[in-house]
Amino acid sequence: MDEQPAGALWVAERKSEVDAILSRYPQKRSAVLPLLHLAQEARGYLAPEDMRVVGELLEMTPSEVSGIASFYALLHHRPKGRYTITLCQNLSCVLAGAEGLSQHLQQRLGIKPGETTPDGLFTLEETHECLASCDGAPALQVNLAYYGRMTAEKVDRLLDELKAAATNGHSEEGGDQRGL
Ligand code: FES
Repeated sequence: MDEQPAGALWVAERKSEVDAILSRYPQKRSAVLPLLHLAQEARGYLAPEDMRVVGELLEMTPSEVSGIASFYALLHHRPKGRYTITLCQNLSCVLAGAEGLSQHLQQRLGIKPGETTPDGLFTLEETHECLASCDGAPALQVNLAYYGRMTAEKVDRLLDELKAAATNGHSEEGGDQRGL
């Protein structure tokens, strides 16, 4: 860990966190997910350089690391907006109006699912995997926070709040399960 390539500065910048993670696991490769999350926090997504560096730290090949990363929906392999809005399109949410909500979000943001707004603020995603918030259907996630019983009006308010938070330099979206 003495000399890090410019593409993975997070390893040097967050050395104490990297060391703490590494010390927590007797089996080195068990640290792969926490290290990948650290890399993603730093860059916003995982670049090939991150796979290589994490592999070096854990004595794994980049393709082994990449193979593990590809299993996890919350690990991203391309640049994303500051806020990733993931709208559930599983049965309970669809029955509660998720499709209309999707149309509304697409219209408000001017993007399709999988796209990011030109200002880099929002990425819209849809998932057919249940978000495990069926009691709050239709549900969505903003990064790691859950929002339930969403309506077009609530979505509008949420987007305004997120934009205001970004303008004021606040880093995070609202708390878990807001709106439930
Ligand atoms: S179906 Fe959407 S949260 Fe379960």
